[in-house]
Amino acid sequence: MSAKPPNAVTSRIQTRTQQLEEHVKEKIDARVNQVKAGIHEVHGHVAAQVDSLLHGGPQASKLTPRPVPPPQYLGGTQEAEQSLMRQVSKELARQQVELAKLSPTQQVGRTFHRVGQAFPLEWKPVENPAIPEHLRVGFLDPKLQVKHAFVRFSRARGDDVGTKTGKDGRPTINQHGIGSDLNGIFIRLDTDQGVQDLTATNAKVPFFHQAHELAAFGGATLTTLEALAQVKTDAGYDLTKLPKDIHAALKDGLGYVPLLAKELDRLTPPEMKAPNPVQQKVGTELRAAEMVKDLIGPALPKHSLAETGFFSGAPFYLEGKDGNTYGFKFALRPVLPKGVPCTGDVLEELGKHEKVQYEVYVQFYHDDETTPIEELKDWPTMEFKVADAVGNTGILHTPEQDALNKAVDKEGANPANNAKGIAPAGLNRRRVELYKDDTVRRDGKIKGGCPFLNGGGVVS
Ligand code: HEM
Repeated sequence: MSAKPPNAVTSRIQTRTQQLEEHVKEKIDARVNQVKAGIHEVHGHVAAQVDSLLHGGPQASKLTPRPVPPPQYLGGTQEAEQSLMRQVSKELARQQVELAKLSPTQQVGRTFHRVGQAFPLEWKPVENPAIPEHLRVGFLDPKLQVKHAFVRFSRARGDDVGTKTGKDGRPTINQHGIGSDLNGIFIRLDTDQGVQDLTATNAKVPFFHQAHELAAFGGATLTTLEALAQVKTDAGYDLTKLPKDIHAALKDGLGYVPLLAKELDRLTPPEMKAPNPVQQKVGTELRAAEMVKDLIGPALPKHSLAETGFFSGAPFYLEGKDGNTYGFKFALRPVLPKGVPCTGDVLEELGKHEKVQYEVYVQFYHDDETTPIEELKDWPTMEFKVADAVGNTGILHTPEQDALNKAVDKEGANPANNAKGIAPAGLNRRRVELYKDDTVRRDGKIKGGCPFLNGGGVVS
């Protein structure tokens, strides 16, 4: 049957249908383009955010690794710097002995990071094509072979006095100076290129910029602990008997500022003081306030250490395969484990995770202004992944972990313990002797049986 020729009505309907179809298509295309543009915009925004969070901003990719200038020592020479560090070491020795008197065990322990938990660690280097061949040195070398490794998580405090005071077991006042504590991580890798120690805290830039500033903080905290020991009764602490300034210091960060300023004034070397006493006084108060702000600020963990990032803060040198010396810092970023409710006891919370995983990144020196070596500053340069690290935290309080804890407790980390081609720079260089002295002064130290070093201190 042949098709009937369209009459006028059908023809009109066909034309109208076509017009409508085109109109609808145009509308849909316009909407799709609108949505596409929106997505593009959001994508660009998100990409910029991620770039800035991970790599320090869009400009970071342009900051390529460059060789570093020679070291600039405090006081102008290596000898002057060493002499300044000897003064700090003396103060740390005093604090170490006084802290032991307050400790339930009476043992001379670490001046900082006294309380910690160690776990076996699996360290898996990754092949990252973005890292230039000449910078693949030490733990940046994807061919690095790690024979054994452990990780020790710690609280930065130098005391082990405990936190519970009230009958209900709740802390009635902050006994430890101010707010929550800074936390640390000490990783030791026994590798085919030597022993590598990695120490980091959960602050991207530490709240102290110089060694004497941390010593001042330790001194102020010790003063509060000594005052508390004086007012201890069987029922807890009789806080009404505390001197006013100590009560204020224990209550909140603001009250802590004058106590810290006093210690800063006592421990700032004369050559680093302002020439005018008024300027010096105002400068010290301001610096104390700034330190307290940086300590209780965003760096503090609000949850388990398993969910916390750790940062070297200070840099290292790297002997490039091209014969030049480069600078770098490292960071450990958690691969987020299942949330564990915050209990305030971050070390115990670790045990609630079968394992905790971190991605290990490095970022390189570019120039003295954006990526200074001798001062502490947040570097905006690109981060490059070099490894995955997995801590076996599920074994908390098992005989296996107790044995590792005992061995690692005797050990001391040191920024001088590095795989071939890596050396401490800036503040890390200044830490070397301080850590060596501190380790040697400890009770029950380094009697052997310790993982990898069997003797502690610095690998020579
Ligand atoms: C970037 C800066 C720093 C970081 C990342 C850092 C991190 C750490 C970590 C993680 C530990 C624990 C090591 C362990 O578990 O054995 C530690 C211990 C210690 N830190 Fe620091 N720290 C820094 C700067 C300083 C400075 C400037 C001083 C001195 C004023 C200092 C004094 C100490 C002392 C005395 C110990 C105990 C050492 C021992 O006896 O084993 N730290 N630090």
